[in-house]
Amino acid sequence: MQAAEYNRRGKELIDYITEYLTQIRLRRVSPDVQPGYMRSLLPENAPIEPENWEEIFHDIEKIIMPGVVHWQSPYMHAYFPALNSWPSLLGDMLADAINCLGFTWASSPACTELEINVLDWLCKALGLPSHFLHHHAGSRGGGMLQSTVSECTLVSLLAARKTKILKLKETEADTDDSVLNSRLVAYASDQAHSSVEKAGLISLVKIRFLPTDEQFSLRGETLQTAIEEDRRKGLVPVLLCATLGTTGVCSFDCLSELGPVCAREGLWLHVDAAYAGSAFLCPELRGFLNGIDFADSFVFNPSKWMMVHFDCTAFWVKDKYKLQQTFTVDPVYLRHENSGAATDFMHWQIPLSRRFRSLKLWFVMRSFGVRNLQEHIRHGIDMAKLFESFVSADPNFEIPAQRHLGLVVFCLKGGNSLTQELLRELTKSGTMYLIPAVISSKLVIRFTVTSQFTTKEDIVRDWDIIHHTATAILAKKAVDRIISGSGEVLTAHSDMVDRVEARDEEQGTLECQPRGNIDTQEAGHITYMATRPQNAMLPSDTYGHQNGLDHRRTTRSLSCNGEMLTGPKDSDLLRLLSKDVITATRNVSCIKEGVLSKIPECAGILEKRVSRRLTKQYSVPVFSQCGIRCGVIRPCCSFMALQIFNKPWFACSRVSSALT
Ligand SMILES: Cc1ncc(COP(=O)(O)O)c(C=O)c1O
Repeated sequence: MQAAEYNRRGKELIDYITEYLTQIRLRRVSPDVQPGYMRSLLPENAPIEPENWEEIFHDIEKIIMPGVVHWQSPYMHAYFPALNSWPSLLGDMLADAINCLGFTWASSPACTELEINVLDWLCKALGLPSHFLHHHAGSRGGGMLQSTVSECTLVSLLAARKTKILKLKETEADTDDSVLNSRLVAYASDQAHSSVEKAGLISLVKIRFLPTDEQFSLRGETLQTAIEEDRRKGLVPVLLCATLGTTGVCSFDCLSELGPVCAREGLWLHVDAAYAGSAFLCPELRGFLNGIDFADSFVFNPSKWMMVHFDCTAFWVKDKYKLQQTFTVDPVYLRHENSGAATDFMHWQIPLSRRFRSLKLWFVMRSFGVRNLQEHIRHGIDMAKLFESFVSADPNFEIPAQRHLGLVVFCLKGGNSLTQELLRELTKSGTMYLIPAVISSKLVIRFTVTSQFTTKEDIVRDWDIIHHTATAILAKKAVDRIISGSGEVLTAHSDMVDRVEARDEEQGTLECQPRGNIDTQEAGHITYMATRPQNAMLPSDTYGHQNGLDHRRTTRSLSCNGEMLTGPKDSDLLRLLSKDVITATRNVSCIKEGVLSKIPECAGILEKRVSRRLTKQYSVPVFSQCGIRCGVIRPCCSFMALQIFNKPWFACSRVSSALT
């Protein structure tokens, strides 16, 4: 391709991108493809002869788009947002053209200098402490851009570790670093992102995940107690990773309590605000920053909610020299005339090379202005509130954790299996993209408002689909239970039917509680056996639940969507499986469709009126009746029954690790 053609094709591609993003609502948000779908669409080998652009361009729609999850769609509610915007796209277009590697100041001065200045802008726009500024009297700190929060958390832990080891060396000069390292312990809440765990794995620093309060927030006293316990054991506390806006439910650790504990006990306080950080652009949302003055480092992703597209992670430290003493290497070929005097970001990070990321951040901040960025955040929160109002007005649903910012978690009151089925149906429909999480063994669906283009009409549309899907599931379950054996209900409780019917007519809603007398142990076992795909690694295998390694997982339930559930979580599913169904699953291979597909599709064959009465016969508006003992059931058997571990959103065993 020559310059003239690049110019022409570039304009065409911009037209295509503009069309793609403005018409994105029309696309199915999640793809309907199977692993390996692309294999047959591509030739075996790379072309030897050049292909013309028309053919390449044509293949975007043919080969790529069918397998794309459209993250910019207003119907994308999974994970956290990963937004782009026009100025951001333009910024990276320019950065890609320049394509400098800004590892030292000398390797491209504008790259380092713009980053320094824009990070100072952003620090002030978020209301972060002045000790994070590059340009501030007496500041030893500063900000930089890295690719991910995971990387920054690791960098913080490595810097804290280095600082602590140097300190220990003052009194134990002869002890090897590795021995000192083995005594270190760091902390995070049981809601923290998996990247904290990963940082521990890499650095060989033990991480203790501490329990949170009923608001899923880590409190000062819990940290203090843990530190004292560990010191008694001869361990050396080194760092706390506090989360502002956890992945599971967007909860906030209590910085105002944790900060003083860290300061008193000599812990590095690292704050992970991956998603919530953008919200601090709005002064009225800065309450959770109370205590931030104690932070040694702070990280968030403008690439999530701030419309600066991936990758762009803003990271500030209070003392840049602690980073430099951790990461400085000094080969001759990287020295320059201003070494030492100018900032060389290579000494602040793990990789050497770095992109010109600040261009897109600069374009976004200038093009929107802080005012419009604030409005964007407020709009997202308003949309989440609207959705929350619909869910909480529906008696079949509950919101088991307080909504914060743009994330609403909700579930059906009838138990995990119903929520699971709802999620499965919604995912199958491709009308929206949602993912699960687990709150204290309760399966929940996360609904995040992501797109800046989400309108009230979108939220109404989404809720309509969710509501109708749930109603159909509840009705079908009730009918299935009747078909599965309890004929007496056809005549019993007729007064209740009428009462429920009358109420339903008034409210236009159903509350269905599954009931039944199934042999739960047997059912649990068969469900598990019948639906396990060959060669599939079960979550229980992955997490070591079968070899007794599960004790720590139980404390990390929220960030793990494949988390083992304990207790009666599968009871509802099991109640719904009649012995006939179980027999059927014994005889029929369920590897493809899962057990639920074998439940008779009886709703369709019953006359509508009868079906309605039967459904209402089983409408029991008492939630407490739902609980039964579930016997010895493989954890996660409902997941297996529903084959969700074959789904793309289950491939990541943790919500958090799958979240951006
Ligand atoms: C609280 C939290 N921390 C860390 C991460 C990981 O972010 P990254 O992909 O930038 O490493 C996420 C991802 O969503 C998150 O929610």
